Amino acid sequence: MITLPENATILITGGAGFIGSHVVRLFVNKYPKYKIVNLDLLTYAGNLENLTDVENADNYTFVKADICDALQMNEVFATYNPDAVIHLAAESHVDRSIEDPLAFVNTNVLGTLHLLNACRKFWRDNFDSKRFYHISTDEVYGSLGETGFFTETTSYDPNSPYSASKAASDHFVRAYGETYGLPIVITNCSNNYGPNQFPEKLIPLFINNIIERKPLPVYGDGNYTRDWLYVVDHAVAIDEVFHRGANGETYNIGGWNEWKNIDLVRVLCKLMDEKLGRESGDSESLITFVKDRPGHDKRYAIDASKIQKELGWKPSVTFEQGLAETIDWYLNNEEWLSNVTSGNYREYYNSMYSDR
Ligand code: NAD
Ligand code: DAU
Repeated sequence: MITLPENATILITGGAGFIGSHVVRLFVNKYPKYKIVNLDLLTYAGNLENLTDVENADNYTFVKADICDALQMNEVFATYNPDAVIHLAAESHVDRSIEDPLAFVNTNVLGTLHLLNACRKFWRDNFDSKRFYHISTDEVYGSLGETGFFTETTSYDPNSPYSASKAASDHFVRAYGETYGLPIVITNCSNNYGPNQFPEKLIPLFINNIIERKPLPVYGDGNYTRDWLYVVDHAVAIDEVFHRGANGETYNIGGWNEWKNIDLVRVLCKLMDEKLGRESGDSESLITFVKDRPGHDKRYAIDASKIQKELGWKPSVTFEQGLAETIDWYLNNEEWLSNVTSGNYREYYNSMYSDR
């Protein structure tokens, strides 16, 4: 639980990205007295088009800055004097982490440390009514077998450079809580899907490829399991944990919604055929089994009972609703899609999938 001033300033990092933009929208609209400062470097994954509906709100400010630049972090803290930080900025794509692990250490580990240091320095180790909320992933727990769930006490066992960098950042956040008394809270969430997700991740990539009638590259045999959560439900969970979560605690967030990749892709193909008025089976014929991702985690599944029991949060959107809404969003936002899939994206796509 945190008691913030009514007119608190909340620094949200990574607010131009997929999940961050949904968190910014929720906070700007729900808390008109808060000042929401969105700090984002606008990497390939950051896109201010995600926030056109709130960009002119009185309680919203955007700052282009790099969490890896300690001086810039000091300037941001000196200028805006935030009461709390919700930290989402990160390199987030596993395949990119396999190509360039160091970029993930820089942003996810060192960037997080620069933010933690700025909090200590500007809050002068007086943490009354302050909060540092770190957004993390279920991937830090490694891979599950056929049964069982990740709980908050599952040992960390990351397998990809991405998850190793997120695990390291989680450890530093917790260490700052223990060592300096920084009031921290951490959440570890499962796979998100929904509007505004960059089309390098499974669902938006496959929606885009189906629209363009391009192959759907399923890694390995497709029998990998993920637990999917609609991004708006994640944003609501973040709101609950930010305001009511206990200091020093971790909460797992998940959708109770496990799908094998291949089964999910088949459902997506069927829905896309219906929405696009194509013959049944059209999209499925695009499925192509390709070389597996190295170190591919077999199964993720979150036990989200702690957050339900302690904070009353549970997912509100069914997978059927969420997937239909997601597809509709991409079909209705062709311009967004074509803007993000031009330029660098094409180079990335060609190099990532050329040898698979
Ligand atoms: P994303 O890649 O869509 O967005 C990341 C944002 O961070 C972008 O706007 C980018 O410009 C910004 N950013 C990157 N480097 C930066 C830097 N050096 N300084 C400032 N800003 C920078 O990511 P996402 O999928 O929205 O994930 C957000 C957070 O949630 C990440 O921390 C991720 O690890 C975590 N997470 C994601 C998922 C998921 O399924 N997408 C699930 C669980 C947790
Ligand atoms: O679990 C939470 C994590 O979920 C987040 O921390 C990450 O930021 C987010 O990217 C996501 O990681 P995944 O690796 O699970 O997501 P991705 O969409 O890349 O892949 C989902 C599954 O689909 C995974 O088993 C790999 C597979 N896949 C993915 C792509 C991009 C394919 O079969 N083909 C593909 O082209």
